[in-house]
Amino acid sequence: MTKRAAVMVDVSANQKEAPTSDETTRKGTFSYLGCLNSSVQMIDDVVLNIAAGFLSTADMIYVTLYELAKNPEFQDAAYKEIRQIEEEDGIINVHNIQKVLFLRHLWYEVLRVYPPIPFSTRKVDHPTHIHGHSIPAPHYLMYFKLAVGHNENIFSNPEKVDPERYKGFRRQDVLKMFGPFGFGPRNCIGQKLAELITIVFLVSVVKQFKFGLPEQNFLDMEALVGLIPSAKVLSVEERK
Ligand code: HEM
Repeated sequence: MTKRAAVMVDVSANQKEAPTSDETTRKGTFSYLGCLNSSVQMIDDVVLNIAAGFLSTADMIYVTLYELAKNPEFQDAAYKEIRQIEEEDGIINVHNIQKVLFLRHLWYEVLRVYPPIPFSTRKVDHPTHIHGHSIPAPHYLMYFKLAVGHNENIFSNPEKVDPERYKGFRRQDVLKMFGPFGFGPRNCIGQKLAELITIVFLVSVVKQFKFGLPEQNFLDMEALVGLIPSAKVLSVEERK
């Protein structure tokens, strides 16, 4: 059985612990909350994961549109790149979508500045040393990616949304910088789907519409379990 398949079948194992850092299978994705012991709950678990994944994806698309609206030069750069790819290849589809870099890098910036899941947790099940720190076992660790993404020792001018900072970097190296999808065997199984949905959607709307912010509107983020945009503030205009 593959690791990816395990999430669908092993949730009935009723594992009551948070995932450990070196777990090799995806046992009981949410069952460590201690609430899974039937097939109905198993389905509930899978649906909850997927629903949560799509909610994060939708929120991050919204925030990316907000950044496009706030920065008309981003819209121009994204539109120009789309037109250039279409001139070269005729159409943007599954074979050349990797060429869409500006919107992809803008989305990475949105994930860095406004991570919808701002932390990940792991159980340390054996004594561990990380960068000179000794961590006894058992112990629970929280990795706070919101803080990492805003750390000026890691990112210059961290509050600035700047898609250019990822120019020349490979996808896997960018995602390692701040871990929006977590790390290791328990990382997000939906990350590539989320990226594909986002880029396909953004290409299609940026081609047709221009986004604006009426009355200098400002997007506030609410911190619930994750970070979500608190209000819908955009205006939309069809491209002529
Ligand atoms: C922008 C969109 C998304 C973000 C930022 C995101 C982020 C994350 C993060 C941070 C984790 C925890 C990883 C860890 O602790 O190392 C996670 C887990 C997970 N995500 Fe996503 N996710 C997104 C979209 C999706 C989508 C679209 C799906 C499903 C189609 C999905 C399915 C899952 C599942 C099933 C897990 C649990 C994996 C496990 O515990 O083995 N996610 N996600």
